[in-house]
Amino acid sequence: MSAALCQSRSPRAHGVRDRVPGRVRRKRAIDGGFVHGEHALRVRIVARRERGTGPLGLGHAVLTVENIDAMMPFYVDVLGFGLSDYMQKPFRAFFFHINARHHSLALIETGRNGMHHLMVELFSLDDVGQCYDIALGQQDRVNVTLGRHTNDFMTSFYARTPSSFMVECGWGGREIDPSRWQPLELMDGPSLWGHERVWLPPAEREVAREMRMHAAASGLRAPVQVMDGNYKLMVGTCPWWDGVSGKG
Ligand SMILES: [Fe+2]
Repeated sequence: MSAALCQSRSPRAHGVRDRVPGRVRRKRAIDGGFVHGEHALRVRIVARRERGTGPLGLGHAVLTVENIDAMMPFYVDVLGFGLSDYMQKPFRAFFFHINARHHSLALIETGRNGMHHLMVELFSLDDVGQCYDIALGQQDRVNVTLGRHTNDFMTSFYARTPSSFMVECGWGGREIDPSRWQPLELMDGPSLWGHERVWLPPAEREVAREMRMHAAASGLRAPVQVMDGNYKLMVGTCPWWDGVSGKG
């Protein structure tokens, strides 16, 4: 490889900066994105640090399939994925893990085989919000509004791409222990809040909305999932929280 090519492929050439020992940690930023025609959606991808983009991979892929049951033996028995959880409504979907990421693969039963979406997990919640602002500035770019998933706790939105699949920009996905994980059926729908799905038929969108309303009314909540160095722990001024967290 030539010196020029080496330089062009170096992390610094792509905007990646490691933290400097003894100083404030700096972001590892990768300027990437999706640029198409004059209506370009440029997404600044800030990759997860070692735990995310290393052993856990960049995110997950979700495929549409004719029949999930017919596909299961290939992904489970041949490729070695473990079932994380599954839902029957508002659409049939199965989620699979291969490491501590809650799911690296999911299958949605739509009656046809194809690519549904690709998820990239960003380091900062603000990156997702700023990407969302960019997407909102373009007509019909947002295909699923900002929301939070019930199973992997990812806060995300989905952008329409020039191809036939979506890109999900997410933050705060949970990690699991694959050796102890027990698959379960998701009864509360795919999202705690938000995630209005343009791609769903109206009747199923209504079912999804009813499930979100029920989740809200029943008090379904989940703690945020943060990596070391990506949060500041507050002293706590709430008597109730101090009581349940042992500070009081
Ligand atoms: Fe996803």
